[in-house]
Amino acid sequence: QLADLHALRRGRLRLGVMTTAAYVAPEILGAFCAKYPGLEVALNVTNRDQLLERLTAQDDDLYVMGQPDESLLHDITATPFAPNPLVMVARSDHPLARERSIPLARLAEENLLLREPGSGVRAAVLKHFTAAGVTPNVRMQLGSTETIKHAIVGGLGISALSLHSLRLESSGGKLALLDVVGFPIIRRWHLVYSRGRDLSLAAKTFLDFAVASEPEIRGQLGEAMTAFERLRSSV
Ligand code: PGA
Repeated sequence: QLADLHALRRGRLRLGVMTTAAYVAPEILGAFCAKYPGLEVALNVTNRDQLLERLTAQDDDLYVMGQPDESLLHDITATPFAPNPLVMVARSDHPLARERSIPLARLAEENLLLREPGSGVRAAVLKHFTAAGVTPNVRMQLGSTETIKHAIVGGLGISALSLHSLRLESSGGKLALLDVVGFPIIRRWHLVYSRGRDLSLAAKTFLDFAVASEPEIRGQLGEAMTAFERLRSSV
């Protein structure tokens, strides 16, 4: 017990998170580090494909990623964690911002902005369109969520984003959620590590801490949703 405390006081923790989780992990880490101030923490933010490479190379102690592929399941331990809903976003003066139950096919008429290949969000959005038999009109590929938000505000098109990435939105009501049938796309994060690796005490403690913070994360998502609903009813 005492040895454990000592280890937590001086240990290291290397976390690998997907970009969508990067909107949440620092806040969990803040609370975690307040409790274990001596821990040395590194947070590596990458897209899904790069995260899978890091996982295979065992570069980090623990990962926050989406649904792991079937083929990975016997090599890793995955604990389901907080929800990661993808919402369709437009500039708030977009005519679709006032419509209800927009069919996905209607979005084919819009310019769609997508993340780079290797992004889990990109893959999920394309899969959603394919499953519905709708061909999206991809206007542009952009390498980051923040750039996509600015491109939406700049009038370049619409895009699907993690609701987490809109939680602290400061663009002053310039973005609106679209009420598209089949959206939000509901996904969950997972806390993942290689089976072949002994989870360090710091990583194990963080895993438990993160799982315990799920209700708070859900609460934040609820608040984000309410903020956008308020915006919608004022249009
Ligand atoms: P990503 O994030 O798009 O940066 O890979 C992953 C996800 O939420 O699936």
